[in-house]
Amino acid sequence: MSRIAYVNGAYVPQREASVNVEDRGYQFADGVYEVVYVLGGRLVDEDLHLARLERSLREIRISMPMTRPALVNVLHEVSRQNRITEGLIYMQVTRGVARRDHAFPKAPVKPALVVTARRTPPYPRDIDAWATTAITQPDQRWARCDIKSVGLLANVLAKQAAREQGAAEALLIDADGLVTEGASTSAWIVGRDSVLRTRPLSHAILPGCTRAALVTLLAEEGIAFEERAFTADELRDASEVFITSATSFVRPITALDGVAVGSGAPGPVTRKLFALFARHAQGSLANAA
Ligand code: PDD
Repeated sequence: MSRIAYVNGAYVPQREASVNVEDRGYQFADGVYEVVYVLGGRLVDEDLHLARLERSLREIRISMPMTRPALVNVLHEVSRQNRITEGLIYMQVTRGVARRDHAFPKAPVKPALVVTARRTPPYPRDIDAWATTAITQPDQRWARCDIKSVGLLANVLAKQAAREQGAAEALLIDADGLVTEGASTSAWIVGRDSVLRTRPLSHAILPGCTRAALVTLLAEEGIAFEERAFTADELRDASEVFITSATSFVRPITALDGVAVGSGAPGPVTRKLFALFARHAQGSLANAA
């Protein structure tokens, strides 16, 4: 079955889908995106992702291409037409098509919207099988990483370095020696002092929706955690390291730069949070019934 994409108002076979060569997303990375996980036909953390899309757009002064309910309809329609009950939806909004000029187009243009979807392997059940490895890399990104920009070159290079070293993620280290986040994930540790820790929100990191959902779950469960930036040394010394994202959920990192993290197996805190988030993601499923 051919995949179906939504491109500027039409549902089209993906292999025939195209955008204008003067789309500002293509020429300037002048746009933003979201990735949402679909489970049981529901969008996990839907409100968080749509609120972040609206925020990213506001920050770079692009208007929403349609109302939020209309966009949600498009997302469901794309997953329906691709017969996806479990998978991911990618959406991208750019400033639109205009003759190449760095500044915004003088005459207003319509923002361009593309939505695609694809199936993924089933939600991970076995945390040991889900565990993976990471490397560290310098954070070479721009100063507004809180905006989910399609300008991902530094992330691409860091991720490729990870792949070439047989790892799944690159954890990024800023100029002060502090961990910012992963190339496409939020980063968490359980320090040597047993404190669960993640970096506070700022322009230096993306406000992860999975991070936000987990923070709510931690509060509900009365699990203490600290929002404090941690150093690369604290990362190396941590007893547990894990990453979160819409497609990683809670994913243990059991080796870093080729060295085992803690015992080399997912630790007790990561296990608990993996289970908590799985219940939360599947809870969306239960609520749909
Ligand atoms: N990445 N940090 C960065 C730099 C990211 O790109 C992402 C998401 C996250 C986690 O955010 P969330 O929990 O909302 O997925 C953190 C997506 C999945 C991607 O680019 O494919």
